[in-house]
Amino acid sequence: MKNTKRMISTIYDTLHAADLVELEHIYKNWAKKYEDDVINLAGYVGHLITSELLLSYLKDTQAKILDAGCGTGLVGEILNNNEFKNLIGVDFSQEMLNIAMQKNVYQSLELVDLTKKLDYEDNLFDAVICAGTFTCGHVGPEALREMVRIIKQGGYICFTVRKQEWEASPYMQIINDLEDTQAWQKLEHTTKKYNLKEGVSCQLCLYQVN
Ligand SMILES: C[S@@+](CC[C@H](N)C(=O)[O-])C[C@H]1O[C@@H](n2cnc3c(N)ncnc32)[C@H](O)[C@@H]1O
Repeated sequence: MKNTKRMISTIYDTLHAADLVELEHIYKNWAKKYEDDVINLAGYVGHLITSELLLSYLKDTQAKILDAGCGTGLVGEILNNNEFKNLIGVDFSQEMLNIAMQKNVYQSLELVDLTKKLDYEDNLFDAVICAGTFTCGHVGPEALREMVRIIKQGGYICFTVRKQEWEASPYMQIINDLEDTQAWQKLEHTTKKYNLKEGVSCQLCLYQVN
């Protein structure tokens, strides 16, 4: 992987975890320092660009939104500040959720593994937002199908995919398949800066569910 010398060591560790057990252990020990490291050291903007893009389309502040891989709640804070209060945050790290809980911006926070079938009924959410979680060793493109399943017709899914993960996993194949089967349609899909201080980019995607 390129740029690893400049990458802060814990981010490097998360991208190279052997499995989800090791990854969960890394987040457990990182949770309290996570925001300082990703924002101030790496220059992470995933939460900003996803929120900004979703908010440019989603206008109903009553919308029920799932923040998938919510971590410490960076996305929830932004949505809440924009009067979106009907927020559910899910993450597989209890320690990350504990930090998010202190912010009081989610209606509920739940411990969920996004690589598994989600325990939500079909067509439940007006939007799913997923910032920074489609990345190496975290959650792969198959999870997109489950996210689409739980979004209402006309609802939105907004997500980032880190550059290295985009290149390594079949995102394009699954995205095209969802388009070919008319499960969703593309609204926005661009390359954006992601970790400004590491010089890492991402795909920023917004799709509308049919
Ligand atoms: C880079 S952080 C992004 C957190 C937050 N969305 C943000 O923008 O700051 C990735 C998050 O994904 C979570 N995560 C990793 N694998 C997961 C999985 N399989 N299921 C649910 N959450 C997962 C981690 O615990 C972590 O909180």
